[in-house]
Amino acid sequence: MPKAKSKTSATRVPELPPTMKAAAVDRFGPPEALTLHELPVPQPDPGEILIALSAAGVGVWDADIRAGLWKPPGRARFPVIPGTDGAGFVAAKGPRVRRFNVGDRVYAYEFGNRKGGFYAEYVCVSAEHAGTVPKSLDLLQAGAAATTGLTALQGIDNVLRLKAGETVLIFGASGAVGTLAVQFAKRLRARVVGTASGRKATTVVRELGADVVIDARSTRATEQLSDFAPDGLDAVLALAGSEALERMLDNVRTGGRVAYPNGVEPAPRARGHKLRVSAYDGVASPREFDHLEQAVEESGLRVPIASVYPLARAAEAHKKLDQGHIVGRLALRIRRGD
Ligand SMILES: NC(=O)c1ccc[n+]([C@@H]2O[C@H](COP(=O)([O-])OP(=O)(O)OC[C@H]3O[C@@H](n4cnc5c(N)ncnc54)[C@H](OP(=O)(O)O)[C@@H]3O)[C@@H](O)[C@H]2O)c1
Repeated sequence: MPKAKSKTSATRVPELPPTMKAAAVDRFGPPEALTLHELPVPQPDPGEILIALSAAGVGVWDADIRAGLWKPPGRARFPVIPGTDGAGFVAAKGPRVRRFNVGDRVYAYEFGNRKGGFYAEYVCVSAEHAGTVPKSLDLLQAGAAATTGLTALQGIDNVLRLKAGETVLIFGASGAVGTLAVQFAKRLRARVVGTASGRKATTVVRELGADVVIDARSTRATEQLSDFAPDGLDAVLALAGSEALERMLDNVRTGGRVAYPNGVEPAPRARGHKLRVSAYDGVASPREFDHLEQAVEESGLRVPIASVYPLARAAEAHKKLDQGHIVGRLALRIRRGD
């Protein structure tokens, strides 16, 4: 008689290999420190899912993790696998997981994962930090839009509470978070002014729906902003800190709101009672993934991806990050998937 399946063991597909390829560092360092490793496939705890990844996002904060500038609490356990988001199929799940089944198309966001990041063929995450991939996104787009999509949407909806007809500045509109924030703001029928530098970035931000695009570094920037918002801006999502941002914040009306995700340096200066300035972190939860799924459909979200690299060339992606001026997001293609 076959043995009854244990109620505590993880559900997994039979063909799971014992090891996987991952881009990881054995010491914190420059992009070259990121090399291909053969590592054990992590095992899901009761509330976790194991994802067979098709794609992973590459973010500016990954470079800080690789270089050792941002460390999760406690001693680093090498090799460290960077990567905070990605998309693929559920390959196994812990016995407490009810939200997903093996084979589901999922994307996930987890920061400081002790079992390893998303630059790998497999990642284990809490099932609470994953969502079903919206129908309109493929796995490459979804993998590149989990951290940035949640962060952009929560900035616009939860922190700024943007309303139809309000005027919002997205400072850093050409970047990974900004390109998505522009679209989430337009879906609310807000008036959107975005900053971008260079013809390509300007064209992309305009095509994504911004009513006006301004080069924040230009001497005419504040004048152009006043022309667009003569009564002052209602809200600002700041995705980079600089003196140019501070000058633009002078154009916010009294009682206006400014939001920025932690990591923006230098952080926007407080302005007393005149403005409400709020820092926040993108949050992954079942509710926020539902929120994102709805916003993706409402906005017909497009996920601009600047360049795609195979896992073995993750170091090149990090060199590109160091150069800056990336329009949209960089991504790793880990295996073919729909
Ligand atoms: N706490 C969280 O949960 C969380 C989550 C996601 C992101 N973040 C943070 O959010 C920030 C944005 O992330 P991201 O992925 O969108 O970054 P990104 O892709 O590098 O985009 C940055 C944007 O800011 C612009 N920019 C940079 N320096 C500028 C300057 N001095 N003047 C004018 N524009 C400038 C860039 O345009 P140019 O190309 O013209 O320079 C680009 O449009 C980062 O600081 C990141 O760490 C935090």
